Amino acid sequence: MEIEATWLGHGTWSLVVPCPQGTRTILIDPFLNDSPTAPVKADQVAADYILISHGHFDHVSDAASIARRTGALVISNFEICTWLGKQGIERTHPHNLGGGSTHDFGRVQLTLAHHSSMLPDGSYGGNPSGFLLWIGARKLYFACDTALFYDMKLIGEEGIDLAVLPIGDQFTMGPADAIRAIQLIQPKIVAPSHYDTWPPIHQDAAAWQEQVRAQTSAEPRVLAPGGKIVLKAS
Ligand code: NI
Ligand code: MN
Repeated sequence: MEIEATWLGHGTWSLVVPCPQGTRTILIDPFLNDSPTAPVKADQVAADYILISHGHFDHVSDAASIARRTGALVISNFEICTWLGKQGIERTHPHNLGGGSTHDFGRVQLTLAHHSSMLPDGSYGGNPSGFLLWIGARKLYFACDTALFYDMKLIGEEGIDLAVLPIGDQFTMGPADAIRAIQLIQPKIVAPSHYDTWPPIHQDAAAWQEQVRAQTSAEPRVLAPGGKIVLKAS
C-alpha cells in the first residue's frame, strides 16, 4: 500500500492514503478556484477529510464548498470549525494546538505554526497550525504557513518521512530558513510548498533543491503543480 501526495499548487495538497476499508483522500488547505497555479478546480477534487491550517483566504476559500459537496470531515482548530458550522458545515472535528485524533486512515495532530489566522470575513481564526500525520508506518509533517522556529527540532525527533515546508518568503519562511528547518527536522524527504503562486512569492526551486542536497541529508522533491510523491505506507 502506498501514500500518494499530490501538490495542487500553493499550500494545497491531496493525499490518497490506505485505510482498512480501502483508501481515503485527505485534502489540505484547499485553495483552487482562485489560485493561478492550481491544476484542478474545487468541484473536481475528492475529499474524505479536509485539514485546514489557518483562516487565511488562500487556505480556506474552497473549504466550505468542497465539504458541502463531498461530506468530508473537516479537521481544523475550534474557531475555524465554528466558522464553517455557521455556513452549514456540520461534519467538523475541532482541535487546538498539540491536540490530535485518530481516524480510519491513522492519526492527525496539530503542531505549532508561527503565523496569523484571521478569516476572510474578519472573524477570529484561532491559532494557526501545521499538521503531523501518522499513516501506516510513515510520519508526515506539513508545516503549512509558518516562520522558522527551533521547536521544529522537537517535531523531527521521532523521525519524519516527508516534510512539506513553505519556501515562498514574505508571508512564510523563505528558502534559506527552509534549509535551516530541514537541518532541525532531518526528514528523509522534503518538498517545497507555498511559492510561485504570485510574483511576491516566486522562488527558484531548482536552486533551492541544490542547496538542500549540499547542506542537508534530506532528499528534495520539487514538484510542478499536479506532481506527486509516492511513499510506501508500510
Ligand atoms: Ni497564511
Ligand atoms: Mn498562505
